[in-house]
Amino acid sequence: MRDSFHTRLGFVLAAAGSAVGLGNIWGFPTQVANHGGAAFILVYLAVVVLLAIPALYTELSLGQQAQANPVTALEQLSQTKHPIGPLAGRGMGYLNVLGAVLMLSFYHLVAAWMVAQGLAALATGLALPGAANWLANDSTGRDLLLLGLFISLTFSVVARGISNGIEAWSKRLMPLLVVLLLGLIVFIALQPGSAEGFRAYLVPDFSTLSDPNILVAAMGQAFFSLSIGLGGMLIYGSYLAPSTRLGRLTVSVAALDTVIALLAGLLIIPALYVAMAQGMTVTANGELIGEGQLIFQVLPELFSRLGNAGPWVGFAFFSLLSVAALTSTIAVAEIPLAYCIERHHLARPRAAGLLALLIMALATVLVYFFDPLFGWVVSYVTQFQLPLSGLFYFLVIGWLWTRSNRVRELASKQLRYRLLFWHLRLVCPLLLSWVFIDVAF
Ligand code: ALA
Repeated sequence: MRDSFHTRLGFVLAAAGSAVGLGNIWGFPTQVANHGGAAFILVYLAVVVLLAIPALYTELSLGQQAQANPVTALEQLSQTKHPIGPLAGRGMGYLNVLGAVLMLSFYHLVAAWMVAQGLAALATGLALPGAANWLANDSTGRDLLLLGLFISLTFSVVARGISNGIEAWSKRLMPLLVVLLLGLIVFIALQPGSAEGFRAYLVPDFSTLSDPNILVAAMGQAFFSLSIGLGGMLIYGSYLAPSTRLGRLTVSVAALDTVIALLAGLLIIPALYVAMAQGMTVTANGELIGEGQLIFQVLPELFSRLGNAGPWVGFAFFSLLSVAALTSTIAVAEIPLAYCIERHHLARPRAAGLLALLIMALATVLVYFFDPLFGWVVSYVTQFQLPLSGLFYFLVIGWLWTRSNRVRELASKQLRYRLLFWHLRLVCPLLLSWVFIDVAF
């Protein structure tokens, strides 16, 4: 029998864990800072309600109906008389499996860097300068060692199955993540300069609302943040009983993801202003420094200036990022794993071992050919794969899946479901096409 989530709370924590990742803790705060502070937050919240929640509901529904991996699910639900429908569904399913494998290879590498910085801070706290130096500086040996460690961690969780592995671990990791995040917010709030950061984050600058890019940026961020279009939500939905009502569960997952992104802003933006108060440079070309420079240069430098507490704050911060990364990698790992088990009849532990080796091999290629490959793989997954699969999911729920489609059935009886159905059929695909065209071309 197929494994499943045992409790609603376990499912919400696992799905929110899949959503909460590096995108929330480092992507969202920089987007807010560079797009008018709280004005961006208002646009983001509107986008979550109008596009991201419907998309999440769609992806979960497809998995729940099919009770199968993305290849089988999309093939089965793309029902057309002509074989082109199931064929396209199967093709999109394979694209999901491929996208997941590529995402795991680069995301594990970034997670390995987080672990390296966390352990470097710990070694500093324990007065082990040699180890701290080795861990803090880039080297192939360090990256390969920590990659092996993180990949083993991910696959040892998923090898234990859904209820004993993913659900049990999400119930431990998500509370830990919230405690670390809240503790860090309080610590940073007590540092000189943080008040200015809270003001910059929470006082809206409405003049930025006239810029259409803000809407596209909010849509892209919401999609990535909720892990929509990757197949991870589809596979988690497939481990819910077919009778489970999805509406409230979907809203709970989106709300938790959004609250954690908002809390991350309360940590990162004030931290940047604390750094500024220390005399550090935190802007470039009029914008707050984001992406890698923020995480790997500005913040470690700030932690090193915080006296005795600094290394421990650094350790807590990079532990937060590592936990956020792990709850996302286990969800993405389940996509190819379920595919290998269900389509190729491999036993779960064996499939997990083989996939771990494959991801390690691909990540090693990324380490050795970083410059030509890394940026390309990240862009392929985030800018192409996610919106394209998201569009396909809307096409399936709105047009192709005709038998036992709950929304379609209810739409013929009640006005609110009719409105929802047309929203999924037309409005969402149009909004998403806009993001896709804007970002991909
Ligand atoms: N949703 C995950 C993140 O935000 C992938 O990093």
